[in-house]
Amino acid sequence: MKKNAIILGIESSCDETAAAILEESDQGVPNLLSNIVSSQEEIHKKFGGVVPELAARSHIDKIDLIVNKAIKESGKKLNDIDAIAVTAGPGLIVCLSVGLNFAKALAMSLKKPFIVVNHLEGHALSPKIVTDLKYPYLLLLISGGHSQYLAVKNLGKYKRLGTTIDDALGEAFDKTAKLLGIKFPGGPFIEKYAIKGNQNKFVLPKPIINKGGCNLSFAGLKTAVLKISKILKNKQDKYDLAASFQKTIEEILNKKTKIAFDEFKKISSKKNNIFVIAGGVAANKKIRDNLEKLSFKENFKPVFPPQNLCGDNAAMIAMVGLEKFKMKKFNNLDYPAKPRWPLDENASFLKGSGIKY
Ligand code: KG4
Ligand code: ZN
Repeated sequence: MKKNAIILGIESSCDETAAAILEESDQGVPNLLSNIVSSQEEIHKKFGGVVPELAARSHIDKIDLIVNKAIKESGKKLNDIDAIAVTAGPGLIVCLSVGLNFAKALAMSLKKPFIVVNHLEGHALSPKIVTDLKYPYLLLLISGGHSQYLAVKNLGKYKRLGTTIDDALGEAFDKTAKLLGIKFPGGPFIEKYAIKGNQNKFVLPKPIINKGGCNLSFAGLKTAVLKISKILKNKQDKYDLAASFQKTIEEILNKKTKIAFDEFKKISSKKNNIFVIAGGVAANKKIRDNLEKLSFKENFKPVFPPQNLCGDNAAMIAMVGLEKFKMKKFNNLDYPAKPRWPLDENASFLKGSGIKY
């Protein structure tokens, strides 16, 4: 009888040290046996952002503990593991190197296949941990470092339809939160503030809303928030700015997602198209509700990872690892960390160049 594969996933690309055990199943979705995420929020909070050197040190301190915990909680033994999958990029090189080197050493000592994973592909496949999802699908990836619309054609096969030309959406949320006096990473608190505010109080710009296809831009929005933040008088004003920001983001995503739907339809012959929204910002409830409604209206089936799998985790890395394992896509142990590793290698670099059409 064929044994169901068991994959250990390891993630250390930024400020989360994570490990997970995922088991292949005969049903459509695998079994997530353990999923340990250790956040470094407390370490970076006082600096207002991730400090690479401190992040790397913390990964070094914790990685063996987190991996051991994931194995213990899964109920499996080290020797039951069939392959080790690890994030090799994109991310902070000093952080990536910790997980990568740990995974290499483990793979070598256990004599098991070693599989490198693109962190962004982890986000792209994250709904597959709980949903039977078939290629192709449209993906909106919104995280702290990336904001992109991608056609996911197959494992490792992506076509970028649109990207941010400046800040990532998570970054815009975090910067707005900082201006409202919320400690890093404040993104998740914006929607909490927004519930108590008047979303029509401040009119904020929607950069490149009528040009640039489904490319995105948030830098102008941030500048407007900065100006307004200087004239806020009380807590209610802060709630109102958060609500106005949240509403503006929803309107931008609505308009740009419609364009992305049209572009995706040109390359997909499927009747029932699927729209996946993944990455840390996909945890935002109002963004989820909004895009869900839009999807139904436009004949797309919306699919989200569960909220606990939106942010960085190793379950999504093990998910990609499992798909690669089934296709015997293994890597050599000299594979380098890749700080920059776009999903669509053919897409041009748009940051800072402006949108001219
Ligand atoms: O995917 P992720 O955990 O890490 C990266 O790969 O970047 O995304 C983190 C980002 C942060 O900017 C965080 O503020 C944002 O996701 N985020 C949110 C929410 N939860 C996390 N932004 C808005 N609303 C939320 N509920
Ligand atoms: Zn991420």
